[in-house]
Amino acid sequence: MSAQVDSLIRGVVDDLPSRINVGVQITPEHYALEKESIWRRAWMSIGHTQDVPNKGSYFVYDIPTFNYSLIVVRGQDDQVRIFHNICRHRGNKLVREPVGTRAGFTCNFHGWSFNTQGDLRLITDVNEFEKLDKEQLGMFPVHTEIWNSLIFINLAKEPHCTLKEWLGEMYGQYDNYFENQEKVASFKAIVNTNWHLAVNAFTEGYHTLYLHKSTARDYQGGKSNPQRHRPHMDFFDRHHRYSAPGNPDKVFVRGEKLAAKYGKLMIPAFDFNCEGLPLASTPPSTTNGHLMWLNFFQTL
Ligand code: FES
Repeated sequence: MSAQVDSLIRGVVDDLPSRINVGVQITPEHYALEKESIWRRAWMSIGHTQDVPNKGSYFVYDIPTFNYSLIVVRGQDDQVRIFHNICRHRGNKLVREPVGTRAGFTCNFHGWSFNTQGDLRLITDVNEFEKLDKEQLGMFPVHTEIWNSLIFINLAKEPHCTLKEWLGEMYGQYDNYFENQEKVASFKAIVNTNWHLAVNAFTEGYHTLYLHKSTARDYQGGKSNPQRHRPHMDFFDRHHRYSAPGNPDKVFVRGEKLAAKYGKLMIPAFDFNCEGLPLASTPPSTTNGHLMWLNFFQTL
C-alpha cells in the first residue's frame, strides 16, 4: 500500500469542475476566440532582463499566433523596451539576426534608422518627403512591464489591467526569490498540440512516475511520496501555483551532484522560501526540495 501525502491546498476549490470537456476546447473556432479573449489580453512573460545584458543588446521574439515579430532591446538609457519588428516607412522587417548588440536599427530597404529607444533618427533623402514628423514615426512600442527581472508583454491596444493587478496575490511574494538567479542554459521545444493539452499535462504530477520513468526516474517522490502527490497547491483568483515533491532518498551520481549544487541558483525553491510561498517539506540541505512552477496564464 502506497504512502499517502496530504496536499496543503490553499484557496477556494469548491467551484472547480471535476470533469472538463477537452473536445470543446480544442476546436479551431474555440482557438480563434481564445486568441483574442485570452492571449491578446494576458500579460505574458517572454524573457529575462539578463537576455539583454548590455546597452544595445537585443533579441527578436516571434509570436506566430499573431504573426508578430518583436524586438526586445536594452536602450542606451539602460531601459528595456519592446517594439514591433517593422519599419515605419513601408513595413519591412527591421531586424533579421535573432540576437545581437546594436547602436541602432537601420532598415535594409531604404535605409531609415532608429535608435535603441525606438526613435526615428534618420530619413534618407529626406527632402523628397513632405511634411514628415520624425517624432511621430518611431518604432511601434509594445506594452511592457518588468517584474522581478522577468519581461512581460501585453498585446492589447490598451491593457485592461496592470501587471500588478494581473499577478494579484503573487505580485509581492517574490521580492527576494530570484536573487542570485542565474541563467545557465535554455532550450525550446515546439510541441504540435493545442495549448490546453500541454498546459493540462503540466498541471498534474500523476504522470511523472510513468511517463518519465526512463528520463527522470527518481528525481521526485521517494519512499514517503511514491505517487508524487503535490505537497502544496495554491488557487488564486486568476492563477494557481503548486510545488512538486523532491525525492529525499535519491542518491546523486557525480554529474547530478554538480547540477544539484549549482542548480540551486536556477531554482531558488530548492533552498529558500519567501513568506507566503509554499514551504518545502524536505530540509534544504537534502538539495531535494520542491520545484516551483508558476502558471502565469490561467483563467482571466
Ligand atoms: S521600408 Fe524601411 S526604409 Fe523603407
